[in-house]
Amino acid sequence: MSNRIEEAKKILLGNRKKGYTLPTNNKLYPAQWNWDSAFIALGYSYFNIDYALEEIETLLEGQWDDGMVPHILFHDKDTSYFPNHTTWKCGKNIPSSGITQPPVLAIVLKKIIENNKLNADQDSRILKILKKIKKFHEWFIKFRDPNKTGLVSILHPWESGYDNSPIWDEPMNNISVDKELNYQRRDLEVSNSDERPLKIDYDRYVTIRDQFRDVNYDPYKLYELSIFNVVDVGFNSLFLKANKDLIELLNKFKLNFEEIELFIAKSESEIIKLYNHDIDEFISRDLNTNKDILIPSITNYFTLIADLKNNKLNNKIINNLKNHNLNEKYFFSTIKPDHESFEEKRYWRGPVWINCNWLIYQGIKNKDKEYSIKIKNETISLIENKGFHEYYSCKDGSVMGANNFSWSAALYLDLVNKKNEI
Ligand code: GLC
Repeated sequence: MSNRIEEAKKILLGNRKKGYTLPTNNKLYPAQWNWDSAFIALGYSYFNIDYALEEIETLLEGQWDDGMVPHILFHDKDTSYFPNHTTWKCGKNIPSSGITQPPVLAIVLKKIIENNKLNADQDSRILKILKKIKKFHEWFIKFRDPNKTGLVSILHPWESGYDNSPIWDEPMNNISVDKELNYQRRDLEVSNSDERPLKIDYDRYVTIRDQFRDVNYDPYKLYELSIFNVVDVGFNSLFLKANKDLIELLNKFKLNFEEIELFIAKSESEIIKLYNHDIDEFISRDLNTNKDILIPSITNYFTLIADLKNNKLNNKIINNLKNHNLNEKYFFSTIKPDHESFEEKRYWRGPVWINCNWLIYQGIKNKDKEYSIKIKNETISLIENKGFHEYYSCKDGSVMGANNFSWSAALYLDLVNKKNEI
């Protein structure tokens, strides 16, 4: 469907600002987001490699001195978003949020390098990018795993990218909301409230953020005092895969990678230990209460992309994955529909998201060829039939959230370009 290909490119170019791209063209997200930009860069790499590199370079311009790459960069003084730069009150070269997002940059960069013949100038740009991504990964290892457990923590649900997932329900229930809170949500002006997080979620998001702002986002203090501290198996799997891809690139560009290599070995065995054989599911862990979190989230299957060296386990996970959406027309729903926390329309509590399908496809194509082709083709046809939306109902494919959504367009370009892969 070549018109969808042209449409996807138009969406990216239409959402493009100076050196970076908005997640959508409506007012919902008027800034640059971290993992959105990584996916977007991959989309550009199919028709404009310089835009792809520039997208990543702009994101990394916002890197803090300690290595953290913020989850949002506020390039202009737009205040139509909440929470905008005036309420975060931080940022290095560019006003930003004070937390991060899934580190998928290395995964995407490796693909861009493999898919393209790069000239010397592009190679030297990539060298600079790589040094910054390495610093970002070292930041995670140092500040998000200070006790050297091999697993990194997220300290705010927004850091996961799956903001209001039921995975966070228990840890969030422990957070008492600051009574003096005074803020105004702006997302409900442009989207349906039954497709967005609840007020209580926002109250808690802001309460945690205020706690961080009070200590000026000092990374040592944040880890010590955060009222939210979760080891999420999906997030750690993305980080493991990103580390594996990063050391290949560092090796290629003759940069050292010992510290990251050591972390990979430890992380791999610790992630495997998060598999609970009684329920046949991966679990995550609330470090503040030391309780396991048992939620059948599609993000638990990001373990597949991490290529764990345990074929028996990988096969088991793939079998479970095949049971995730037995009765639904469209897959993958963010939460298994028979679970009590499932909500068909509410953001990360049920709908189908293209980036989740894409990440799982990446994880499965070297393990179950036939099923991976099914995932790819179904994802392509969902987009071709319904368009480039932010998320979709797994029941009837109805579209939700923003339209002209950049990462849906970008990842579609990747999937169709790899249509004959395998
Ligand atoms: C929402 C999503 C997050 C995404 C951002 C911009 O906050 O939960 O994953 O990065 O919007 O699209």
